[in-house]
Amino acid sequence: MNPLHLAHFSDVHVTARPLGWSRRDWLSKRVTGWLNLRLLGRGRRFRHAEDVLTVLAGELKQRRPDHVVFSGDATSLGFEAEVARAARLLGLHDDPLPGIAVPGNHDYYTASATASGAFERHFARWQVGERVDDAVYPFAQRVGPAWLIGVNSSTANRGVFDASGAVGRAQLDRLARLLDRLGDGLRILVTHYPVCLHTGAPENRAHYLRDLADLVTVAARGGVKLWLHGHRHNAYSVVDSAKVPFPVVCAGSATQTGHWSYANYVLEGNRLHVRRRVFDPEAWCFRDGETAEVSLPA
Ligand SMILES: [Fe+2]
Ligand SMILES: [Fe+2]
Repeated sequence: MNPLHLAHFSDVHVTARPLGWSRRDWLSKRVTGWLNLRLLGRGRRFRHAEDVLTVLAGELKQRRPDHVVFSGDATSLGFEAEVARAARLLGLHDDPLPGIAVPGNHDYYTASATASGAFERHFARWQVGERVDDAVYPFAQRVGPAWLIGVNSSTANRGVFDASGAVGRAQLDRLARLLDRLGDGLRILVTHYPVCLHTGAPENRAHYLRDLADLVTVAARGGVKLWLHGHRHNAYSVVDSAKVPFPVVCAGSATQTGHWSYANYVLEGNRLHVRRRVFDPEAWCFRDGETAEVSLPA
C-alpha cells in the first residue's frame, strides 16, 4: 500500500479589520481579549500570522499532501470576519486541498460566536464526512488506509481566564457509535485539546479538557491509535503508554513568532514518520526541522 502523507497545522490565530463588533460584544470577554491582543503582547506574538499563513498555504498547495489536518484556533476572538479571513488565506473559498478541520476555543470565543456557526460555514469543505444522527460533530473521513475522526472539544466560556473545553455527553455517545460502525483502517482522532503537556503531566484547569478522561476512554475503546491536536503553541509528541493509551502529537502554532511550525506525517502500516517544518524568518519560508519515528499500537 502507498504511504499516506498528511500535513498537520494548528493555532494560526488570524485577525481581521474591521472585526465587526456588535453591542453585546462590549459586555463579553471579547473586550479583555481585544485588550490582550492590541495592548498586552498577544498581537505582537502573532504580528506575522497572516503572512506566515500565506506562506504555509502556498507550501501546502505546492507539496500537495494527501490530506491536510487543521486542529483549530483559526481566529483570535472568534469574529466571523476572522474566520472568513483565515479560510480565504487557506484557499477554502476557492479550490481547497482535501482536509479536516475542527474548531478551537478561540473560534468559539463567545456563545454568539459558537451559535453563529461561522466556523462550520467557512470550513465546511474540511468538514465533509460520515456522521451520526446528522449531528455536526463528530465526523469521520476515509483517507487512504486511515480514518480521520473530527471531534469538537471547544466550548464558549464566560470566564476571562477560562480556556477549558469539553466534548459533552451527547457527542461522546455519538463518537462511540461512530467508532463502532467504521470499517477497517487506522483510526486517528483530531481534536483541539491535548491529552497532556509535553512532559506527560495533565493540563492546568484553566486550559484543560473537562471531560478528558471520558474522551480517552471512548477513543481507546473505539480503537483510536493516534491523537492529533493543537491548543498548546509549542509542538511536541508524547509516546508513553504509561501516560496515554496511544501516541499524541501537538502541532503547535503555525504562526506564532518563534513557535511557527507544522508537522508532516508519512504513515506506512503502523509506522508514523514525523517531520517538523519550521518557519525561517530570514529566508521567509518553512524548512525541515526535527524528525521522529513513532510506532503506532497494533
Ligand atoms: Fe491557540
Ligand atoms: Fe486553543
